[in-house]
Amino acid sequence: MAKTYKDTDTTAEQRKEDHIALAFDSQVAERNIDTRFYYEPLLAGHPTNDETCEVDFLQYKFQLPLWISSMTGGTERAANINKNLARACGEYKLGMGLGSCRSLLLSNERLKDFDVKNLVGDQPLYANLGIAQIEQLYKADKLPLIAEMLKKLTADGLIIHINPLQEWMQPEGDRYFMNPIELIKIIIQEITPHIIVKEVGQGMGPMSLLELMMLPIDAVDFGASGGTNFALLELLRDKDKTSLHESLVYVGHSADEMVDFVNYILEKQGDKIQCKNIIISGGVKTYLDGYYLINKIKTNAVYGQASSFLKYAMDDYETLQEYIEEQRKGLTLAKKLLKIKA
Ligand SMILES: Cc1cc2nc3c(=O)[nH]c(=O)nc-3n(C[C@H](O)[C@H](O)[C@H](O)COP(=O)(O)O)c2cc1C
Repeated sequence: MAKTYKDTDTTAEQRKEDHIALAFDSQVAERNIDTRFYYEPLLAGHPTNDETCEVDFLQYKFQLPLWISSMTGGTERAANINKNLARACGEYKLGMGLGSCRSLLLSNERLKDFDVKNLVGDQPLYANLGIAQIEQLYKADKLPLIAEMLKKLTADGLIIHINPLQEWMQPEGDRYFMNPIELIKIIIQEITPHIIVKEVGQGMGPMSLLELMMLPIDAVDFGASGGTNFALLELLRDKDKTSLHESLVYVGHSADEMVDFVNYILEKQGDKIQCKNIIISGGVKTYLDGYYLINKIKTNAVYGQASSFLKYAMDDYETLQEYIEEQRKGLTLAKKLLKIKA
């Protein structure tokens, strides 16, 4: 049968008008060119609609290299947010960290905010506690409460957040005094080896990263600086301190710098490293940032977002679905056309 060709370009005339009208508003300055990538338009066509960017991470299959960073719980609003996020995690085969589950240690009153494993399905769901609470539990001989909490949530592991500056800036913040690495070792031995350790928006330097990567934990989650900053957030809650301690807000490391630290550690200390899974998070605003960083790092990695997900998870599920769908499209396009320069 003869093949036919039909051109159904019904909007051509209007489009040509638009092109003329908008041409002068569409100038890109050289200084704004994204220099992270080689753009190679000659080597592949567009991705098809059903393409994904599958990766193996933490012994799970992810359809997209995306981690939903720890956020919320403990309020009515949080329950809806967590349900939306968990459903997306199950549908798009991602991974998810819960926000601090401290309120579940001694009570089940807020369990409904966090109880989302049924929506996440076979994908990883990690509970979350701060290092300060863990020290308090340890000193009170109450570490088994953590194991009970993990069981209540049917969680696949525990995220420990290390947030000395946030606690210090928080009007009602806690203090802790033990070396976090020593405490994490105790948790690995007494509670679970399925541990992820993270900061909450300031990142961490190379010596902390090295110590962490030498532990037999599941992953390190950067929680880098460049996005949501909890030291700043706590300062905003406590107006009196603003002028005195604001400079501390700017201490920290970006995700890009932390990728350099990890690559250096792997190159120089590779034989000592037990944890090679990294969640690159903190200020990862767009899928291009994520694509760049997961390709630059020389180990297993996904990228994590907190505030970017929060923005789309607060209302109906469809809004969140659309956001993830756009990331999928962008990532699959990037994979076809962009090679990183590093
Ligand atoms: C509303 C909100 C609540 C958060 N709560 C927690 C938490 O309970 N535990 C935690 O480890 N990190 C928490 N974080 C920090 C994030 O997991 C993440 O490390 C940080 O926001 C940086 O990522 P972003 O720049 O993509 O927002 C929270 C972030 C947001 C926006």
